[in-house]
Amino acid sequence: MLKSTTGWLNSTTWRYIFTPVFLISALHYASPSPNRGLIVSGLTYLLIVIIIAVWDSRDAQQKLAEDAQRLGAVPIPKVKGRLPGNLDILFALVRGDRDDSCGEVFRRWSEEYGPTYNMNILWADQIITVDPENVKYVVATSFSNFEKSRKFNEMFREFLGDGIFTVDGDPWKLHRNLARPFFVKDRISDFDCFERHSSNLLRLVSDKAESKGDIDIDIQDLFARFSLDSTTDFLFGHSTNSLLGHEDASRKTDQYSQFSAAFKAMTHLCMSRVRIGSTWRWFEIFENKSREPMKIINSFVDPILTRAVQERSVLLDKNVEHENFLQHLLAADLDTELVRDELLNILLAGQDTTASLLTFTIYCLTLYPYIAVKVREEIDSQMHGRPPTVEDIKELKYLRSCMNETLRLFPPVPFNIRRSIQSCALPSPLSKTKPLYMPAGRSISYSPLLIQRRHDIWGSNALQYDPNRWLVGDAKVHVTNPFAFLPFNGGPRMASSPYSRKFHIN
Ligand code: HEM
Repeated sequence: MLKSTTGWLNSTTWRYIFTPVFLISALHYASPSPNRGLIVSGLTYLLIVIIIAVWDSRDAQQKLAEDAQRLGAVPIPKVKGRLPGNLDILFALVRGDRDDSCGEVFRRWSEEYGPTYNMNILWADQIITVDPENVKYVVATSFSNFEKSRKFNEMFREFLGDGIFTVDGDPWKLHRNLARPFFVKDRISDFDCFERHSSNLLRLVSDKAESKGDIDIDIQDLFARFSLDSTTDFLFGHSTNSLLGHEDASRKTDQYSQFSAAFKAMTHLCMSRVRIGSTWRWFEIFENKSREPMKIINSFVDPILTRAVQERSVLLDKNVEHENFLQHLLAADLDTELVRDELLNILLAGQDTTASLLTFTIYCLTLYPYIAVKVREEIDSQMHGRPPTVEDIKELKYLRSCMNETLRLFPPVPFNIRRSIQSCALPSPLSKTKPLYMPAGRSISYSPLLIQRRHDIWGSNALQYDPNRWLVGDAKVHVTNPFAFLPFNGGPRMASSPYSRKFHIN
């Protein structure tokens, strides 16, 4: 089985630096007129490196072909760009990232090259799949052979450090075990925190409507604030309360608007690094894009953390109940830096995803008012105007279908990525070939957004918002292939979101 190699003093360093230098020195001393000058030596070095590179590449291709044969697999189709090294493909990705049309670029290529293809940017394999069976293989059945990887960790390092999102293996298990007790049903069923902030939200909307009559409301901004306020409250025991200062915040100068903007900027920066791939550093040579946003994020988190650390001794007492996630982490006696990383990781996990789901649900309901009327009728008949309980939420089946349908068409995490540790064969049934050969140490991206909009899986009305597709005879939500609907991811690294499993059709 072929394994990926790492470490700076590896055979590549020997072949491309020490061997040519040795050969040039040997030629230099063996030559009758040793004083050849820098240019000739440089050109000789280049020539030797090119010969070694061509030799290596043939050798590597030969080994990969043998390994593929051993696994009974065939090569993944490669995208054919117009420029050397598929530079035009790289530029298309950067452009798609800037104007948010990355998904469209990937979809076009999947139609041209099949559901699993290799972008091969700068001669480096970068594999994309929109085949649910391959996603199942990567995140579930072959979980131990696919990791987030050190490269992913480097892309997110200044922002998320070594938190649950960016680590693998034992450190990841440690995070998962740490988080689990806090996300138990009892705590999640305690809706007080969410009730408080949703009241702030509703009050704001109705005050605006009463004072100005027929007005436009930027609901995306309000939901972002609601999810930030409730998630910071739940995690830090200290809410940003950005909804309370909303009138002032419209000038975008208050601390919480700045925090929210900085958090968004870091999320976007790290995600675009993932989409661009290994060459991301080239696009940040002249500017440290994370310095300013990280200053703002730290100025919010650090004082809360410092205060909580001072009270740590109280939390170590087993009889004291931990009211928030920060206290829960401090009581586990973790290093303060790791506590900080973890808080930002869970804030990232919970805030933007929740805001996205709420915003797109309202967007869809405004497009289809008759569906909004049905949702309202269901809520009124279940709750008669009182706040919801967990039991109520279980009964709101039509609302749940609407949210599933929103998650299907607008998944808050539209793309995801893993890296292979050892070579393997991706089952790839939709490619209608033999299994496809995945070499060791290569990235594979998969897209819930594109999979959840496939006509061959979801039918001819795949692009239509139709909550009824989630309701069958006995009003249970259903789907034939669980990996064709994966807004919360699948396998062991599924979202440890408090409510994801309740929504998730599994
Ligand atoms: C609509 C809401 C949400 C969606 C669609 C969602 C989706 C996801 C997805 C796709 C992943 C996998 C990410 C990856 O592979 O890197 C994930 C991971 C995670 N989510 Fe969520 N999430 C939601 C809400 C939340 C909330 C509210 C929390 C907690 C407050 C949360 C906690 C986590 C954690 C801790 C992970 C990391 C799991 C791991 O790597 O083991 N999520 N989520």
